[in-house]
Amino acid sequence: MAIDLRLQLTTNLEFKMLNNFWYACEFSHAVTHQPKQIVLWQQTIVLYRNTTGQVVALKDRCPHRGAALSLGKVEGDCLRCPYHGWKFQSDGTCNEIPANPPGVAIHPQAGVQSYPVEEKYGFIWLFWGDLPPDERPSIPSLPEFPDSSYRAVTVELEFQAHYSRVLESPIDTVHSTFVHVNTFGSGDSNNPQFLNQGKLVWKDWGASLISILQEAPPKGMYWRYIGNKKRSEIKLDCSFYLPNLVWDKVEFKFKSFSCIAHVPLNERTTLVKLICFRNFLTHPWFDRLFHKLSLQVLQEDRLVVESQHPQAVPDDINAELHAAGDALSIAYRQLRQKCLALEYKSEAIATQIPDVAGYRN
Ligand code: FES
Ligand SMILES: [Fe+2]
Repeated sequence: MAIDLRLQLTTNLEFKMLNNFWYACEFSHAVTHQPKQIVLWQQTIVLYRNTTGQVVALKDRCPHRGAALSLGKVEGDCLRCPYHGWKFQSDGTCNEIPANPPGVAIHPQAGVQSYPVEEKYGFIWLFWGDLPPDERPSIPSLPEFPDSSYRAVTVELEFQAHYSRVLESPIDTVHSTFVHVNTFGSGDSNNPQFLNQGKLVWKDWGASLISILQEAPPKGMYWRYIGNKKRSEIKLDCSFYLPNLVWDKVEFKFKSFSCIAHVPLNERTTLVKLICFRNFLTHPWFDRLFHKLSLQVLQEDRLVVESQHPQAVPDDINAELHAAGDALSIAYRQLRQKCLALEYKSEAIATQIPDVAGYRN
């Protein structure tokens, strides 16, 4: 059978993970003094906090016989392997091999790979790449991050799709009245038109767009409480930041923010980690309700996203048609393509913004 090499190459490019970026990869609260395994692009990584509370990230494979270090024990700032007790410092250097007689030097290759990590916006960020610190793109600066008067819940859900497809779902402003017809889009699925869509604003490694949507009040007691009683305008300020973050602000009678990390477990599986902030019904008693609702919304998204073909956004911008409401996803595709074309180098792409207007009315 003849093989279309061109198609194969395209597919490989589509399913890549962007290199040399900070990836939001785990909730801050999930990392403690107990080692925890995470997965990023098929690579197992162990996270733990040292004595000062700083997060350490090491490859989760002992260089001796390959045991998972995440099954071991944190001792002070170090991590001890569960199999033969080799001990590793937070920079990955091995500083103890219990079976060695006293005075025997530790082989320089006995160390394990460590990763740069930071903690910000309720997430652990891991740098995936090989750029030196002064050349790395920075972790995004999120505008208007909620203060302590907001209440937050966290939710996570696995999607069987490349992270580029999954990330496009929360930056798609039109889908709510269809996909979320049983939750927050329950008001009127026949009128998902924009009253106004603002100008696309480029950010460092991302873009944002403000949309004003007209929606009827959603149905149900809960939605009636938080929504307006009449047909109303909802202001949606939506941003994406390469490589894997979406930051949404929804303004109606109240305000809510969503900080969404799309963690690529492998080329066809994405773990979505969502922090949802609200300035209404802030009593902890309501957390269960918001957790349930947020999970339901993600499940509604998952059903559609997992049906998309191909499982990654196409390499060719023109491979799919675009319409009103697609400007942000077009911008995402173009910026992602620009990074891939530059072989993931960070050469001031943020200042070489692609000339994309997307669809305009
Ligand atoms: S496998 Fe880790 S010390 Fe032997
Ligand atoms: Fe959605």
